[in-house]
Amino acid sequence: MISKQEIVSTLLQNALFDLKSCGRSFAPSNIALVKYWGKRQSELNLPQTASMSLSLSCGTHTTVSLNDTRDSVTFNGVLLAPHDPKAVRALSFCNLFRPLDKYFVIETKNDIPTGAGLASSASGFAALTLALDDLFGWKLDKRSLSILARLGSGSASRSLYTGFVKWYEGVQDDGLDSFAEPFGTPWSELQLGVLLASAAEKPIDSRSAMQSTVATSPLYSSWKETVQRDLALVEEAITTRDFGLLGQTAESNALTMHATMMAAKPPIFYWLDKSVFYMHKIWKLRASGLPLYFTMDAGPNLKVLFLEKDKKTITSALPELQFLVP
Ligand code: PMV
Repeated sequence: MISKQEIVSTLLQNALFDLKSCGRSFAPSNIALVKYWGKRQSELNLPQTASMSLSLSCGTHTTVSLNDTRDSVTFNGVLLAPHDPKAVRALSFCNLFRPLDKYFVIETKNDIPTGAGLASSASGFAALTLALDDLFGWKLDKRSLSILARLGSGSASRSLYTGFVKWYEGVQDDGLDSFAEPFGTPWSELQLGVLLASAAEKPIDSRSAMQSTVATSPLYSSWKETVQRDLALVEEAITTRDFGLLGQTAESNALTMHATMMAAKPPIFYWLDKSVFYMHKIWKLRASGLPLYFTMDAGPNLKVLFLEKDKKTITSALPELQFLVP
């Protein structure tokens, strides 16, 4: 099996090296319209299928520098304990790039609305990759940076860009053909909000949940066909600005992903009563003529898609909706 370190060496072999005192970056959060669920190779986070996301204006700001004493990770102003899982994950990623006898000082801040139930590992690893590129002065191209960010977290490969982003599954064992790039043109009328069912830590992380779904769900092979079909539909919807097609496809894709994991053994079930309550509310509003759709990730919260022109009506129909800026 090809290791992360081998991929890093390949990507950095022709990179520049112009060390600064501090590297800085920002990377946006992203919400998948066609989801990534399942890896074809887990060491390199190579996905079974391609996926498509929309980047948000909120995300992660990171600075990285080196010192001679010890590693430290500060998250939202709080110094993390060395065994904190966030610190361990960030530092094991940095180990791939560690100069001899040097330690990393990482400071990272999310401007993702607190309690919005949004995953931050995508923007977190994308921002860390960009900060390292700035610190070491590699000046890598976006494709290489997307591949490096993917080694930290799969969906981070998509957080290097604004707008719509497509991540290719690739076929190579080294994953050098599995990177993300922008798709189509920005769609300024498209809006997004969150209906929070719970801000609590999820019962099973996405890495383990994916692994178990691929290994035990009898629906997994048809999930791959669903993604292929949904990607074509979402691409058409983005290109032709067909909001109904975009919303319908994204909602159906998210429900199919959840159905696929519910069929795993043991079942993986992220929904809470409140999630189902909100789904019915959205379906009812839609039946009454209001065009709005939802998508969900590995958690109980709903991300609602709608158009700018309907914002006022949606705000009064769903006062609990927290707005996110795409
Ligand atoms: O990159 P990870 O391991 O956090 O997985 C992300 C999985 C989903 O958010 C459910 C789907 C996606 O494509 O972002």
